[in-house]
Amino acid sequence: MKLQYIFLFIIPSILLSCENKGKETIAKKKVPNKYTLAFGSCNNQFTTNTLWKEILKNKPDIFIWGGDIIYCDTYDMKFMKKNYAQQKNDSSYMDFTKQVETIGTWDDHDYGINDGGAEYSKKDSVQQLFLDFFDIDQNDPRRSQQGVYFSKKIEINEHLLNLIVLDTRYFRSNLTKDPTGAKRYIPNKGGEGTFLGDNQWNWLEKEMNNSNADFNIIMSSVQFLSFKHGFESWGTMPHEVKKLKNLIADSNAKGVIILSGDRHIAEISVDTIANIPYPLMDITSSGLTHSYTSFKGEENPNRVGNVVSEKNFGILKFDLTNNTVTIEIRGENNKLYQTYSQKY
Ligand SMILES: [Fe+2]
Repeated sequence: MKLQYIFLFIIPSILLSCENKGKETIAKKKVPNKYTLAFGSCNNQFTTNTLWKEILKNKPDIFIWGGDIIYCDTYDMKFMKKNYAQQKNDSSYMDFTKQVETIGTWDDHDYGINDGGAEYSKKDSVQQLFLDFFDIDQNDPRRSQQGVYFSKKIEINEHLLNLIVLDTRYFRSNLTKDPTGAKRYIPNKGGEGTFLGDNQWNWLEKEMNNSNADFNIIMSSVQFLSFKHGFESWGTMPHEVKKLKNLIADSNAKGVIILSGDRHIAEISVDTIANIPYPLMDITSSGLTHSYTSFKGEENPNRVGNVVSEKNFGILKFDLTNNTVTIEIRGENNKLYQTYSQKY
């Protein structure tokens, strides 16, 4: 084989293998130092989603699903496939995804089982259907790994955003039901259980420890800083909450912000945590097509502002020149329910 042919063969092979190993994508943006992220969750595939056009009014650079993209609790994979297709072929969603890059994770109802975790026997099959929904390449690491977690790097001039999308379902071990029935779950005893599983924890540790991003946005699906309500949250495993807080502190990762959904309400939770040099935020936005309209209130010592129990979506506006993020909770007619700013 002539030398130039050898190079022609070898170089693309090296490039391909690098691409396959990398869990990240770098996308450059020309607009100086501004970036708008939208997110939302809890979308019934048979209910008209009136918010896609409202989200577009905010000109987001990306939309991150926080899960419950569809509602389909089932073990029937043909049925699951049909329901993902129902959402993918929805005309207003198709119009939205033509204009905005869309990434995300699953929660329980698009995973296939209410409040489900590692025990769900169809998770590997649903994982492929979930990745098909996002048109994820067959060479993407998510096609061969267990769980849908990944990260995406966004380069904006000399600044960097790291979007970390977690899988809080695939590895999550059993929760403890409240024996009194007053709440749905109580915290697991004696440090029992895992939220992310060993492989995902190891990956997340590397992701955080090696991050030189200005902001590290973690999409969690279930809530992190609001945990007293007794529904699903990281608070069902206090040792895992501690582990993530310690990781954020020890990694020195800048501007960590947690996003969540699941609850059919929106709220902003903020906490001061030892050795994290900025307030940690957990911004919850849910749901897109239906919300907890009968919400009467619940305890959350970390909440700032009110609970929004109308349909809603979240917007994060990054000003990288001033290292500031402005959070907005918006809804029908792009109505602004809540805004909160944090300088880092
Ligand atoms: Fe939901």
